[in-house]
Amino acid sequence: MTLLFALLGGLAVAIATAAAQTEEVDPYLGIPVGGGPIDAGPVPAGIDAIDAASCGACHEQHAREWAASAHRTAFTNAIFQAEFEPHRRPYCQRCHAPRGEPSAGVDCAVCHVRDGAVLNPTISGRAPHAGRVAPLDGTLACARCHDFAFESQPDLGLQRTVQEWVGSRHHDTPCQGCHMPRRGRARSHRFPGGLDPGLLEHAIRVEARAVSEGSRTRLTLTMSTDAAGHAVPTGDIFRRLEVTAWPVAAPARRERVQRWRRFRVDRAGWHEREDQRVPETGERTVEVILDGVADRVGYRVDLWRTSPLRARHRGWPLRDVRRRLRAGTVRVEPATRR
Ligand code: HEC
Ligand code: HEC
Ligand code: HEC
Ligand code: HEC
Ligand code: HEC
Repeated sequence: MTLLFALLGGLAVAIATAAAQTEEVDPYLGIPVGGGPIDAGPVPAGIDAIDAASCGACHEQHAREWAASAHRTAFTNAIFQAEFEPHRRPYCQRCHAPRGEPSAGVDCAVCHVRDGAVLNPTISGRAPHAGRVAPLDGTLACARCHDFAFESQPDLGLQRTVQEWVGSRHHDTPCQGCHMPRRGRARSHRFPGGLDPGLLEHAIRVEARAVSEGSRTRLTLTMSTDAAGHAVPTGDIFRRLEVTAWPVAAPARRERVQRWRRFRVDRAGWHEREDQRVPETGERTVEVILDGVADRVGYRVDLWRTSPLRARHRGWPLRDVRRRLRAGTVRVEPATRR
């Protein structure tokens, strides 16, 4: 089967994709799982248009929250543009601006409009527009973009958030349980994520231990997920953890280590060497060695959206790329003799 579609916006290209015969189709949205351009279909009866501003004329607060969300800026934000610009591949637009108009990003109709109906888990009967019940839950409404393989390697997950969630102890809580907090009868459309201090505050648990080893001090952090329904960090492969440690008496003597999904790239493609994130179940241990003796050691665990080097090179302000996950101090235990 060949799918032909046109992507509008600055690119104005049409590409043909030979879809695999075994292609999995989302039963509710009728689109291939794993990303693809979205045709929302005809405008539902009862309204004039399906762009966010038109929906927002009646759903003012939803529109305001969405306008401040990462979905709104999915295509226009600087970190995406830095990766997109060199190649401008239409493939990227499938998830970052799937209805063609770059500045619209992931807009209302991407999640809510198909075949002349507004989709929602419940239909009130009070809306002027035609409606149809659809769960819009994580495995369906979110998975097509938040869980997918490398374009050239269908067996290697690039983002695995939904699979991680399925394997986590929070799998009874749908994505929106944490990412669309309730406000009255409605749910927030700001979609807080990896930059939201409230969400990050309880994302992971950390147990710290520091031991003196003669002329060195060894800090060991044992980390596990707490209020995160997937690995931390989840999502994009640029995300990483950074552990910083220092003797409390000499903060300038700090050391840093970083942990992320490490890949090797060769002519055959990408290969995952090691997944060093805090896993959705179990623990991740990270050690930092400090030269010299210390009584107390301070530590901080940060989540970076991209590599610190890249952020500095591009001039991206820290507040856009780094958030603190946890911090503390720990007393150094004397060396144990064997
Ligand atoms: C002319 C006003 C108007 C426009 C335009 C409008 N809506 Fe609605 N919508 C409503 C009203 C009124 C309700 C019912 C709210 C309630 O239950 O109190 C509603 C309900 C909904 C619901 C909940 C399901 C239901 O049927 O009760 C969703 C989802 C929704 N709208 C999405 C959208 C989207 C997406 C757009 C743009 C494509 C849109 N609406 C455009 C007035 C509008
Ligand atoms: C059409 C594709 C698409 C769909 C469907 C989609 N998302 Fe997203 N989402 C994105 C993209 C792309 C971004 C990244 C924006 C950026 O930072 O460039 C994003 C960002 C987010 C973020 C913010 C991440 C951060 O660190 O700020 C959260 C949270 C999120 N999505 C949750 C969800 C949930 C929950 C659903 C299902 C109800 C969903 N998304 C459906 C494409 C999608
Ligand atoms: C039990 C609560 C919980 C559930 C359920 C949950 N998340 Fe999260 N999510 C978090 C927390 C906490 C963070 C912040 C830590 C992090 O970034 O990993 C987060 C971060 C994210 C991010 C931003 C990652 C980054 O840093 O770039 C995305 C995207 C996301 N979640 C998507 C999803 C999707 C999609 C689902 C459903 C399949 C889901 N989440 C289910 C709690 C949850
Ligand atoms: C990334 C997907 C996504 C986008 C984009 C999105 N919504 Fe929603 N919306 C949802 C989900 C999921 C629910 C259902 C939450 C639930 O009931 O579990 C929802 C629910 C609603 C509801 C019902 C009331 C409520 O808050 O539960 C309205 C109205 C609505 N959305 C309007 C909009 C409008 C207007 C826009 C654009 C400005 C928009 N949505 C963009 C996913 C999305
Ligand atoms: C199948 C859907 C999908 C496709 C295709 C896709 N992305 Fe993404 N991308 C996402 C989602 C979802 C996120 C947000 C996850 C998170 O917050 O960690 C994201 C995040 C990103 C980010 C991080 C943005 C930020 O704000 O930090 C960059 C950069 C990025 N994508 C680049 C690309 C490029 C370049 C392409 C094309 C080669 C591409 N993406 C194709 C779904 C997709």
